[in-house]
Amino acid sequence: MCGIVGYTGTKQAYPIILKGLKRLEYRGYDSSGVALLNNGELNVYKKKGKVAELEESLVGINLDAQIGIGHTRWATHGEPSDRNAHPHLSSNGKISMIHNGIIENYALIKQELLNKGYQFKSDTDTEVLLNFIEDIKNNNDCKLEEAIRIALKRVSGAYCILLIEEDNPDTIIAARKGSPLVIGIGKGEHFLASDASPIIEYTKEVVYVNDYELAIVKPDELILKNLGNEKVTPYITKLDMELAAIEKGGYDHFMIKEIFEQPSTIYDCLRGRLDAKEGYIKMSGIDLHTEQLLNANRIMIVACGTSWHAGLIAEYIIEELCRIPVEVEYASEFRYRNPIVNKGDVIIAISQSGETADTLVALEKAKENGAFIFGVVNAVGSSIARISNAGAYTHAGPEIGVASTKAFTGQLAVLMMMALNIAKHKGTITNDRYNQLLVELEQIPEKVDSILKNAEEIKKIAEKYKDATDFLFLGRGYNFPIALEGALKLKEISYIHAEGYPAAEMKHGPIALVDENLPVVFIATNDPYHEKIVSNMQEIKARKGKIISIITEGDKVSPTISNDYFEIPMADEIVAPILTVIPLQLLSYYVGTLKGIDVDKPRNLAKSVTVE
Ligand code: G6P
Repeated sequence: MCGIVGYTGTKQAYPIILKGLKRLEYRGYDSSGVALLNNGELNVYKKKGKVAELEESLVGINLDAQIGIGHTRWATHGEPSDRNAHPHLSSNGKISMIHNGIIENYALIKQELLNKGYQFKSDTDTEVLLNFIEDIKNNNDCKLEEAIRIALKRVSGAYCILLIEEDNPDTIIAARKGSPLVIGIGKGEHFLASDASPIIEYTKEVVYVNDYELAIVKPDELILKNLGNEKVTPYITKLDMELAAIEKGGYDHFMIKEIFEQPSTIYDCLRGRLDAKEGYIKMSGIDLHTEQLLNANRIMIVACGTSWHAGLIAEYIIEELCRIPVEVEYASEFRYRNPIVNKGDVIIAISQSGETADTLVALEKAKENGAFIFGVVNAVGSSIARISNAGAYTHAGPEIGVASTKAFTGQLAVLMMMALNIAKHKGTITNDRYNQLLVELEQIPEKVDSILKNAEEIKKIAEKYKDATDFLFLGRGYNFPIALEGALKLKEISYIHAEGYPAAEMKHGPIALVDENLPVVFIATNDPYHEKIVSNMQEIKARKGKIISIITEGDKVSPTISNDYFEIPMADEIVAPILTVIPLQLLSYYVGTLKGIDVDKPRNLAKSVTVE
């Protein structure tokens, strides 16, 4: 959470930083700010609210500077306000700092500083770290770089920090642990950011800074050091990303653009890996590590949010096709309990951003215990991708809307191919079934496309139910996690209370909520439990609940019980979740926008949760 940008070079820094902050707003939008250095004079401008509000407040002000740092905030310590906004200024006003992460032992350090007479202008942990650095610099009479190094040895928690100081007017100093940092290398200029999106239009050459590294960045020099003050050679990589991928391209919101991109993102995910005609799946991450995967005693899937839902579906599929026991864990729970992880266990980590703090730390812990980590990640070069022993990218391209859509279907496509590949190697699937599922998977992009062509039907349903105060989503088998995902999407971007449940389990509680005001969404596609779910629909209808059903085309029964229904193309139950989730993404998008909510930036959420 929180997005950070920095620039040092020969161009005007403010427009570059502002544009970068807009691209990083998915990481938080409680407040934003910039610090600019012009001829040794440090000026900080900050404002509560979205980046556009900062921009508006700065119209007409002279912002001439060729070095600066900027921040968009997701509040942790201290309410969203002007004074808690970053950048912060050190006590003597000579150093400015931005921070993404949490300093866990800030209270102790703050007390020490208060005892020394320091005063604080904000409630943030960031200002504490900044004054701590200033204090060390003054006491030790050392360079800022040295003071940062000493301070960071004392702090616990996660951080990516960027600092500029009046006495060193062309240098940005950055450091990271647990929160991401990319440095773009230009000609006589450098760009720093939480991800590559603010950098992409200026340069494709980047360095991903590692944990416990410190970067001293000048227009024509980049020095990387570890906390022991030893130089580290920067590893330059080329960005494989186009500017168009991070722009709205004519759509009203990133979310709807990303929903409509799914036929091509799923196609890109399958391309080069799956060939139904030739009857094979090739995934180098699996083919090179078959021994670990085939001999796994069990598989643990670790993820958060929507990615966790993809994990639940993978559990059903892997157990069915590969006959390997699977457990799905919330990363935040896994890392704090004392899970039994042994050598030979395989952990599948699922993450869109590849930066989710809980998932990352859970993996570090499992790796220490000898587990083999397989990453299913969307963001190329991200921390989770790098910590994994092997993996497969989802190739969905940058996902900017806070609510995950195309990354989720990409995760499902990867996990399905992965299960099929392992099952084939293990001999737990017949050739016929294998070949049939390859064909089914290959047809998915086309089927998603045909669903999207009927998006207007979902919009009408959204109009009808947008004022409901609660929703229930029910599904069985492979579609149970889709019920959870449908409810999560609706909550996230329409602020309507929604719950997902296994359809049969509904009788053990949620049925008490049913009355004529409650819309109940059934995912009732053609599968072995269809008759059972039809009975559940009858139970809701008998209690006057409003039934919205997602059904397979040709289903003659469900429409007679439903108040509204939406048809998806015929598909095998194993691949059906990639299809059934699409109308639910659309439903939440249309309900959210009809209610006037900024669906790309719903309140309180952030796309990349880099704090625990
Ligand atoms: C946040 C996002 C969700 C995402 C979850 C896990 O809550 O808003 O869309 O599913 O984090 O993120 P990850 O990047 O690890 O998939």
